Amino acid sequence: MGCSNYKKFKFETLCVHGTHFKDLLAGAVSFPIYQTSTFSFEKAKDLADAFEGKKEAYIYTRLGNPTISVLEEKMACLEGGESALIAASGMAAISTLVLTLVEAGENIVCQDTLYGGTYALFKNLMPRLGIEVRFVRCTDLEQIEKAIDSKTKLIFIETPSNPTLQVIDIKGVAEIARKKNIHLCVDNTFATPYLQRPLELGADSVIHSATKYIGGHGDAIGGIIIGSKEFIKEAKNILKDIGATIGPFVAWLLIRGLKTLAIRMERHCFNALKVAQFLEAHPKVSKVYYPGLPSHPQHELARKQMKNFGGMVSFELKGGKRAGEILQNSVKLITLAVSLGDTDSLIEHPATTSHRAYSKEELEKFGIPEGLVRISIGIENFEDIIDDLKQALEKV
Ligand SMILES: Cc1ncc(COP(=O)(O)O)c(C=O)c1O
Repeated sequence: MGCSNYKKFKFETLCVHGTHFKDLLAGAVSFPIYQTSTFSFEKAKDLADAFEGKKEAYIYTRLGNPTISVLEEKMACLEGGESALIAASGMAAISTLVLTLVEAGENIVCQDTLYGGTYALFKNLMPRLGIEVRFVRCTDLEQIEKAIDSKTKLIFIETPSNPTLQVIDIKGVAEIARKKNIHLCVDNTFATPYLQRPLELGADSVIHSATKYIGGHGDAIGGIIIGSKEFIKEAKNILKDIGATIGPFVAWLLIRGLKTLAIRMERHCFNALKVAQFLEAHPKVSKVYYPGLPSHPQHELARKQMKNFGGMVSFELKGGKRAGEILQNSVKLITLAVSLGDTDSLIEHPATTSHRAYSKEELEKFGIPEGLVRISIGIENFEDIIDDLKQALEKV
């Protein structure tokens, strides 16, 4: 099965089979891990030709590896893109994307609430490279239009966003980007291609922290860029020089994770809605952030843009930050840990962990409540997750 066939098969089938690569040596059904740094050639001319691009061949794992190629092909299939590039982490993928598209003297327009690591990269490192980053509220399309000028080379959005679950109108942003000939990249980590396919809505590229739902088991770090053949070729050239290559074993873990992406996402979404409804009805909870709740400001957009609402739930307690801390100390089944998208439910406090790069003033300015608690809802039985929250809330 090849990637060009992706329209013929349903998503769940592609998660399992979406690659034409086969193990020709032994017919292994699970594609082998090519745990090698380098590849041998018969003749010096063959190696030289491979380097020159006259002949397609694997040369050295930083430049390409069959196990990594399988993951790239599958991810391109699942996002409906022409090509994909795997990097060592989500942050490596985002850095590669930016360095492919933006130069000193140019600027990026992006959302004001992003994953804290992306925010740190944009706020601290980009200005050192002469790249200006303009943080705007991207749920308001007018603000994006106003921030753009002739030096804007990239619009970068996360939807749903980390940690406040804002939903951004991808089609609307894509129209603005197309009109002005600016590259639009969507960080699709929270949604995964199972829930939302930004390229079909007009984005130019998609980014993932594969560490999250793509791998899904909390045992691998990786990143992905999906886009046109031409763009991925350029990005590959940059990544090769940066050197943030994923290892073949980690790529294999992500391939294995992908096989169950669809069924895991179903359960994550089912559980998250139950938990969000429970929290919204709880007297000690003041606000719940979940796109699947009718109270969410972009609930209607989420219904249109996404197949379901995802596995991430954030909320505020009436007792504020201190109450959130007691809650985190009191859960027994839910694990106190950063990261998300794992089989296991994970709880964290963004302001002091994943979103530490935001100062107190920036948290306030960008609407990330200091007391916000975030839960990545796992695939356990939802009643056990709710029971755990019930007993922990009693202690608050
Ligand atoms: C939305 C989002 N994008 C990117 C990243 C960065 O990914 P990684 O930790 O794999 O570098 C994260 C990490 O939490 C994330 O939540």
